[in-house]
Amino acid sequence: MSALTIEHGCARATEQLVPVICKLVDISTETSDVKAFRVQTLDGQRPFDCSPGQTAMLSVIPYGECMFCVSAQGEDYLEFTVKRVGYVTEQLHALTLGDTVGLRGPYGNWFPTEGLKGKDVLFVGGGIGLAPLRALLTYLLDHRESYGRIDLVYSGSTRDDLLFLDDIFHVWPKQPDVHMHTSVYRESADWSGEVSYTAPYLEKLAFSPEGRVAVLCGGPSLFRTCLASLLKLGFDPGSIITTLEMRMKCGIGKCGRCNVGSKYICLDGPVFTMAELEDLPWSAD
Ligand code: FES
Repeated sequence: MSALTIEHGCARATEQLVPVICKLVDISTETSDVKAFRVQTLDGQRPFDCSPGQTAMLSVIPYGECMFCVSAQGEDYLEFTVKRVGYVTEQLHALTLGDTVGLRGPYGNWFPTEGLKGKDVLFVGGGIGLAPLRALLTYLLDHRESYGRIDLVYSGSTRDDLLFLDDIFHVWPKQPDVHMHTSVYRESADWSGEVSYTAPYLEKLAFSPEGRVAVLCGGPSLFRTCLASLLKLGFDPGSIITTLEMRMKCGIGKCGRCNVGSKYICLDGPVFTMAELEDLPWSAD
């Protein structure tokens, strides 16, 4: 398969550095510690255009700001799916409909939607890792005729830890040639599907790398084991894509907290192929 080309070093316009005040127009609870926030400008517009995989800095005034990937977008909104993991995200989770936040962006590069044309796409993720994958998956569904078969291998500890249940079980499987493979790690009375860690499940499903690109996103353990499984199945590192958006802090090359060797994830990424990361002093931890 010809190598995927990913845009790097995307320029930032001045207006991307100035927060726009937005309001929360929808808040949905995904799990006990994950909520999805839909934001819109005060005059009802989408705050800015962005491509799947791009991120934005969301400010919870006056508590602080964090970088998040855009997990969905519509004509008049952007959506962020956020896990409660610290002070700012705790304050964000405490907000209610109509509350305001600051938003600036978009930042970073994006998944190679052009390079994926005509290919089968295998999404592999766990837990909150489905948030950035969802942005790309829904883009492919919106342009269904340009892409091949779509598979999602997704897992969580239990059913209660899975995000976007309606999409996974009802919306996406109804789309042409879209296949869901969901597993949980622990058996429970409310789960009759696959009980397995993600990597062994991936190997059991035995996807062929022929004409297929894998997009992988998850925590360190899932990432390491699934990457090993993909390589075992014969995937070339140049046909495995990931995003390191969780490592972006300032997003504009100033804080120095995201560099891997000569690259800054915020300036060069966050989307890379594994072939590109192989040359960098990088680890999944
Ligand atoms: S996130 Fe600050 S330099 Fe990259």
